[in-house]
Amino acid sequence: MNVLIIGAGGREHALAWKCRQSPKITSLHVTPGNGGIESQADCWYLTDHDKILSKAKDEGIQLAIIGQEDYLVAGLTEKLEAAGIAVFGPSQLAARLEGSKVFAKEFMKRHKIPTARFEKFSDVNTAKSYLRKIGAPYVIKASGLAAGKGVLICPDIETAEQGLDDIMVARQFGAAGEQVVIEEFLEGEEASFFIITDGKNHITLPSLQDHKRQHELDQGLNTGGMGCYAPAPIITKSIAQIVNQQVVEPTLRGMAEEGYPYKGVLYIGLMIKDDQPRVVEYNIRFGDPECQPLMMLLDSDLVEIALAVAESRLNDVTVHWKQQAAAIVVLASGGYPEAYEKGVTIQGLEEVVVSEQQMVFHAGTRRDQNRYLTAGGRVLGITCIGDNLEEALKNSYRNVARISWPGMQYRRDIGLKGLKRMTAGKKELQVAIIMGSASDKKIADKATAIFDQFNVSYEVVVSSAHRTPVRTRRFIEEAEQRGAEVFIAIAGMAAHLPGVVAAETRFPVIGVPVNASTLGGQDALLSIVQMPPGIPVATVGIDRGDNAALLAVQILSIKYPYLKAFHFEYRLQMEQKVIASN
Ligand code: AMP
Ligand code: GLY
Repeated sequence: MNVLIIGAGGREHALAWKCRQSPKITSLHVTPGNGGIESQADCWYLTDHDKILSKAKDEGIQLAIIGQEDYLVAGLTEKLEAAGIAVFGPSQLAARLEGSKVFAKEFMKRHKIPTARFEKFSDVNTAKSYLRKIGAPYVIKASGLAAGKGVLICPDIETAEQGLDDIMVARQFGAAGEQVVIEEFLEGEEASFFIITDGKNHITLPSLQDHKRQHELDQGLNTGGMGCYAPAPIITKSIAQIVNQQVVEPTLRGMAEEGYPYKGVLYIGLMIKDDQPRVVEYNIRFGDPECQPLMMLLDSDLVEIALAVAESRLNDVTVHWKQQAAAIVVLASGGYPEAYEKGVTIQGLEEVVVSEQQMVFHAGTRRDQNRYLTAGGRVLGITCIGDNLEEALKNSYRNVARISWPGMQYRRDIGLKGLKRMTAGKKELQVAIIMGSASDKKIADKATAIFDQFNVSYEVVVSSAHRTPVRTRRFIEEAEQRGAEVFIAIAGMAAHLPGVVAAETRFPVIGVPVNASTLGGQDALLSIVQMPPGIPVATVGIDRGDNAALLAVQILSIKYPYLKAFHFEYRLQMEQKVIASN
């Protein structure tokens, strides 16, 4: 079979890579394509629909997979179908789910699909007076396609009015700004839900979480996506069920009833709060970079699936997914998503051994003899699979470290949100905190504040080494039985408590000296730090209950990946605070 893929990004590279593995392929073509895709397929570098059509006829193309939304919104599906080419992708009317936010919002309203409340406007002054009736933050969306830049989240009325002027008067996005949608701001956590459908039947793909902002911890400007991972633990079985019932089924039914059945892949952007998903947006295509991990997890023939969708017989194929995790880290040009330099030589690509487990998908590169040059904002996507999310991320970042070029940027926190939810094996008690006196509570509070933030289970008791030695010993024994793996002992003056705890337990003990006498805590510090050989106690600074908790987290994170993630997030927050204070 002669297959054509349409688009130019990392998504199309992944689609081409997956199609290449199909025994059905006779010839594989991509248009426009990019430098990296040339290793998989014949790149035409054509964008004009008529030229694409005529070359498709010349090459005897039988199946087209349209990756990029603008071709779908402009009606390339119909053009190709009219020439007898099977197309994986929605019709022009169905493509309005992404091509017109007004259409998508009104469609959702008609079919009672949960989404943000909204109003549409075609007059800038009416839109501005509406702003004054609602509260901040203001969510303003150009109705048409705006290369992912048409959504403004404005903190105050001045920026919102300016945004309306830019979109509706200055026509920053051209005709896409003829109409705008102003909608309710949704709180929650975002996740992506993908289905493949032939209009009637559908299959659900692994869930994903994207990272849209430029900087770590979701700071900075919106980008096309700096990385993502699958599956996303936020989409639990019960949430997936709700999405199917409240979103997927009414969407497919509604589109069919209204006369434009949806075919292809539908990407549903969700905001989830208190286990209730709501639709942020529909996209009529695979996401980029979401497509890359999905293709690595797909354990079936993509060409067969695409053809079955085009021929409305999706039920004929069984689709398998690897029961693993996948992650992609995007390497971008310095400055992206604003102005950036192109044509920089990429170093280290040859050091990454690509396989079915690890791939470098090219998003914006150009081939120059036997090297690759940067040719876009998002340049490469390092995509790896692993038996779990932690492993997939480790593999990706190991390969990220091999590649470089001047100005290269990437996010170090891809997958952190997912890892934070991976609490398998967590016990009802992880850290036992013993303080020698009730007056030490404010020091214990510093520790428990960190544990609350990091989702560590703990228990605090008052028990003295000197005054209640039996009770102390019994508590240690019970705490161990209930799962405690680290002890924190807080004491002032002749602080023997940490030493006593260390003598009783085989788990690590962290001693916190307290300023509780005229010696200002130096007495406790020396008592704790001067342990006899063989019975160590980790000592932190005077009154530093917070550092004791962080050290406990570091110890526990050897066993619990979710704590490694919380701790890394904490370090990134600290780093950002220091940088921001300059
Ligand atoms: P979109 O281009 O529709 O994907 O929007 C870009 C991003 O803006 C989304 O991924 C969300 O993070 C954010 N966003 C869009 N609509 C809303 C909303 N109603 N409430 C909160 N955030 C939103
Ligand atoms: N990664 C977001 C998108 O493809 O729209």
